[in-house]
Order: sequence, then C-alpha cells, then structure tokens
Amino acid sequence: MAHFCWIELLVLATLALVGSSLGARVESDSNAIIIDGQRKIIISGSIHYPRSTPQMWPDLIQKGKDGGLDAIETYIFWDIHEPNPRQYDFSGNKDFIKFFQLIQQAGLYAILRIGPYVCAEWSYGGFPLWLHNTPGIQLRTDNEIYKNEMQIFTSKIVSMCKDAKLFAPQGGPIILAQIENEYGNIMKGYGAAGKSYINWAAQMAVNQNIGIPWVMCQQDDAPQPMINACNGFYCDQFKPNNPKSPKMWTENWTGWFKLWGNSEPHRPAEDVAFAVARFFQNGGVLNNYYMYHGGTNFGRKAGGPYITTSYDYDAPLDEYGNLNQPKWGHLKQLHAAIKQGEKILTSGTATTRNVDHNIDLTTYANNAGERFCFLSNIDGSKDVNVDLQQDGKFMVPAWSVSILLGCKTEIYNTAKVYTPTVVYAKKNQDPTKLSWAWVPEAMDETLDGKGDTKANELLDQKDAASDASDYLWYMTSVNIDANTPRNANLRVTTNGHGLHAFVNKNLIGFQFAGSTNGQQSFNGDDYSFEFQRPVQLNVGTNIISLLSVTVGLANYGVRYDLIPTGLWGKTVQLMAGTTTINLTSSTWFNKVGVNGESQRLYDPSSNVNWNSNQLPTARPFTWYKTTFKSPWGTAPVVVDLQGMGKGHAWVNGNSIGRYWANELSGTRGCVPSCNYRGGYRSDNCRTNCGNPSQRWYHIPRSFLNNNVNTLILFEELGGDTSQVAIQVVTPQ
Ligand code: GAL
Repeated sequence: MAHFCWIELLVLATLALVGSSLGARVESDSNAIIIDGQRKIIISGSIHYPRSTPQMWPDLIQKGKDGGLDAIETYIFWDIHEPNPRQYDFSGNKDFIKFFQLIQQAGLYAILRIGPYVCAEWSYGGFPLWLHNTPGIQLRTDNEIYKNEMQIFTSKIVSMCKDAKLFAPQGGPIILAQIENEYGNIMKGYGAAGKSYINWAAQMAVNQNIGIPWVMCQQDDAPQPMINACNGFYCDQFKPNNPKSPKMWTENWTGWFKLWGNSEPHRPAEDVAFAVARFFQNGGVLNNYYMYHGGTNFGRKAGGPYITTSYDYDAPLDEYGNLNQPKWGHLKQLHAAIKQGEKILTSGTATTRNVDHNIDLTTYANNAGERFCFLSNIDGSKDVNVDLQQDGKFMVPAWSVSILLGCKTEIYNTAKVYTPTVVYAKKNQDPTKLSWAWVPEAMDETLDGKGDTKANELLDQKDAASDASDYLWYMTSVNIDANTPRNANLRVTTNGHGLHAFVNKNLIGFQFAGSTNGQQSFNGDDYSFEFQRPVQLNVGTNIISLLSVTVGLANYGVRYDLIPTGLWGKTVQLMAGTTTINLTSSTWFNKVGVNGESQRLYDPSSNVNWNSNQLPTARPFTWYKTTFKSPWGTAPVVVDLQGMGKGHAWVNGNSIGRYWANELSGTRGCVPSCNYRGGYRSDNCRTNCGNPSQRWYHIPRSFLNNNVNTLILFEELGGDTSQVAIQVVTPQ
C-alpha cells in the first residue's frame, strides 16, 4: 500500500510539472535510459546551434537522424544570449528554442548542456566578459556574486524551455540536462571552495525541477543524483560513481579542433567505430559524438586563443553539412548493428571471457535465452582468427570489434569499411575575377597618440576591451634629448596574443605567440612573448602606438578566465645605446577597436567612399570590398582567401569569422596514409602540412541574396586580393 502511494505521488508530481499527460518519464539504471518504461541505448550527436544557421538546422538534424542518431546535444552559449547584464538575445542562430523544436519535429530526443561554462573552443568558454568585469566576482567557484549570476542564467534557460514545453515530462524532446562542464578536471585548483561550489551547482540544478536526470561530465565525485559521465577518445574503461547510474559518454571526440598554424586533424572512422563498439561492449548506455557537426566559429567566437574559424572537427558532417564519408556511413551501420541488440543489451547480463591474448568475447544474455556478442581485438597490429566452436569462426582484424547477432552472425566489424570515401573539391563557377575597392583604416589619431581613456599603467586587454573588439590601442609619448642615440630598440613584452607596433607613425612590425612549424610556440596557458625591433627616434617628442590583438580568449583550465591578455603587468622599453628608457609606468592612452569597426565599414549599407583605383597589395590595415553573384544550385559556398593575410570577413554584413590565410601549418603529424590501430591521439593522422591552416571560409547560403552580394575584408597584415574567389563545394 505504501508502495502504491509513492507511485501515486510520483504520477501526481509529474502531472503537476507537465500540466499534461503527453509527457514521457525519463529514468535510468545501470543498463538503460528508460523512457516511458522503454529501456533504451541512446546514440547522440553534438551540433552547436550558433555554429551554423537556422536555415541549415533542419538538414543537419535530418542527416543526424538518417545517420542513426536518437538524440542531438548542444551546449547553451551564455555570452551570445546575455551580451550585457539582463539584455537577452535569442534571435537568428541564437534561437535555441527553435533548434530544440526542430529536433523534436524530426522525431529525435535532445540533450541540453547548460554549463553555463562550456569550454567548447568557444571564446572565454562561453562566459560573457561583463561577468569577469563584475566587481568582487570569482568565476566557477564558491563566490556569491558568481553563483547568483549562474543561477539567474540557468533559471532563465530552464524557464524558457519549460515555457516552450521542451522537457520530456512536458511532452518535449529534452531527456537529459548537464550543469557545469568537466569541473572535476580542474577542481583541485580551487581547493575546498571548488568542492562546495560543485555541491552547490548540483543542488541548484536539482532545484530547477525539470523532471529529467542531470549529468555532470568528468566529475568523479558528482553528488547524487547527478550522474557523472565520461569525455575522451575512449571511455570503455569508465565507471560511473554510482553503480546504479548508466554509463554515459558525453563527449566521444570524433576528431579534433584546429589552431591557426596547425595541420588538419583526422580521426579515422575505424577508430571512432572501435571506440564506440568497445564502449557498448563494456556496458555503455549513452554515446554522444562530440562533434557530429562542428560547423563554423562566426564572428569572434573562436576561443583558444588561436582556434581557427573552421570548427570542422573531422565530424561525421563536415563544416558545411556535407556527409563526411566514410565516417558518417560507417557509424550509421554501427548504430544499426547496436540497435539490433538494444533489447538484450538493456535487459541482459554481460559476461566477458578472455578468448586469447587481447581477444575478449562479451556475451549479453537475457532471460528469454537471447544472446548478443561483442568480439574485440585490442592488439595494435595483429589480425586474429578466433574459433568460437559451435558459434563459428571469425577473423577479427587488429584494433577492431565484431558485433555478433545471436553471438553467431557477424553483422558489423569496426575495421571493415564498406562506405566509399567521398572527397570534396572547391570549384569556381564563375571564372571572372572579382573587382575590388578599398579604403585605408583611418589611424591618424591613434598614430598621433590620441585615445579615448588614459591610465598610468598598462591595462589588461580583456578588462579594457570587454570583448567589444579584438583590438586595443596603447599609446604614449616620450621626449628624447639630443644626447640620446637615435638608433634605438623598442622592446615590448606582452601576454599576447598579437602585437603591431608603430613608432612615430611608422609600422615597426607584427608578432604573435602562435604556432611555428606545427608546434605551438607557447607553453600551456602562457601566450606571452617579447617583441624587439630597431626604431629611429626623433629629438623631441616620439609617439609609441601599440596595437594589441586578441585571437579568441582562452576557454580551458584552472582560472583560465584570469589569464592576462595584452600588456598588463608587462614592460615597454626603449633601449638607446646604454640608456634604457622604461615606459611601462608612463601615461598610456587607450582606445578599444579600430575605427572601421565603429564606422561599421563591414556593413554594405554604411556610408563610405570606397576607392576603385590603385588597389593596394601588401598594405596593412586596409578594408577591401567586392561584390559577387550567388553561385547557382544548393552546394555550400566558400570564399577562397588565398593571398590574404590576417583579418575578418563579412558577407552582406554577416561575419563569416576571422581569417588568417597566410598562416601556414607545420610539418608535424602528416602521413601519406594513416594507421589508426593502437590508439588515437589528436596529433596522429594529420593532413595539409605546409599549406595555409585555413584557406577557405564558409558563407552560409542564407547570408546570400538572389542578386548582388558584398564581401568586405578587414586586412590587418597586408594581402593580395587577386586570387580571392567565390567557390562551391562539391564531391570531386
Ligand atoms: C572537452 C570540453 C569540450 C571541448 C572538448 C575538446 O574538454 O568539455 O567543450 O572543449 O574538450 O574539443
């Protein structure tokens, strides 16, 4: 009777939450995600809504469904939704409610990772900069101001989802939610406050009363009822901290992200399939591909620093939404094979027998006498013939798993790929050269030392710029008497990420702490470097104008949010003969951004007198403009920026991201053919060594008009527009 009352209460509570009886109950145990009493294995894929456009979403979601996904997962990106405190924006590709609705319309489940810290190679890990600039705040720790903001934002997202009836008990698609992100990886660095923060975060999440399970990834000590989950290239050995929890893989990295100056990462389909099959062999219940579609870092949203605009990730769907074959097809077949065993996997018991060195046979069997087997070979080089007596003989290639229906029939092997490879090419539809106009970036004032604010120290760039721009000017002047040698050296140390220096209006040089020869030339979180160049001084006043450039704010690590940027805490010196003139504590004028940004030169409708004559090449700080017709058809459109340096590109006023076309990738890790056997690392199996690390930039079709389109570039280093071309991406 008491038992009956408890169930009754639960039903009542669920009804109260959902206000309708259409909803689904989501529960879990160690073998299954249980939706309305049905025991399920869930295959999910990450697609981040702001990394594509609403026009692309239905196709991406459908391709996910066709590829055998049950669910689509996304983070929520705080900075784009709350650019200023309590000013919210959910328009365009920020309309995550629409994204979830489309997922539901396609008949899929959804996983909501609120964070609101997200990492994700997203600038500043998704935190808005105003948060950092709030007095007294400390991010991701037991700090009342931060916790209050995190709770306000989390509650906002949850209440929007509730209002749109998106949670499963309300009849919506969302079956799981995540709070925080991989805090366990860095918690030690926050001491006891870290532990109390994560306990608070769990309680705060539970109090949201969403009626579905909450997840914390990479959090071994996740307080109940949080389910801890695994992220990585392999998660077969992972065990949740509660034996009753389902074993979930929130991030199965399908490839890797790319830095400016790095070659192209690839994770072979065979290895992804191997890792997934091993996971389900070892009791896995939910696998989420990170990423299923990586997409594009539009605007200045790439994190890092130095993450490229492309976030292709070698995911099953490429940056443009094309099938990345054979990966997409090979995984589709894997999903179908696993689903054939779903009933037995979620209700049976597993026994594993070591058949031979490195060969394991795992048998799932249920009460009805049904069986489903995984036969794995984790040897990095030896193919093995296995004799399973009455169940048959099987050849299991090195580093592979065979899935055996009824434990007798091989329906899939992770190393046997039947999906043909598809290679895509970029093609010019229209051979006519683009014609260009230009305007110089107006720098007279800053080269004259004039700024908007003044300080007697070198400011931290992210504090001063608050993410309004990649650029912050630091300007000062110094008097040189006739006794000081005029041939001097300017020495600037900076926290990074890049620096242009001008002395008396002359550009002295540019430097950054990026990668050289495919190797990162920075250490961990330290992007600092020393800039030193000869300069000519005048007797009398000399003006030093330094333009510091950020290239995506850091997104990972203990207190990554406090990693200094720009010149804060660093030094500026003039070395003239034996005299060192220290300018560090001079009066510094600052100005956020370049003038073209405030004049909105990137917007074709702004009033600018573009010059069509004497088109410059190799001229730093130049705005370029051209027009083009939309390519016919539906193939994805890109702009080839070969010949250009570094800057930012816009089409019809929409940012298509930063570009850095002259930054070549190094020689490390590239191999003519890739051996996936033996365990993947992100520096294995690379391609594109020695070429620009990113030459092509995606122009989503929805950014284009039917007639004339405008492409505008802000070129920072100096480039040559003669090879720039609008192209389409089609199978070769
Ligand atoms: C994880 C993180 C993700 C993403 C991934 C690498 O640590 O949770 O957000 O950054 O690494 O792509």
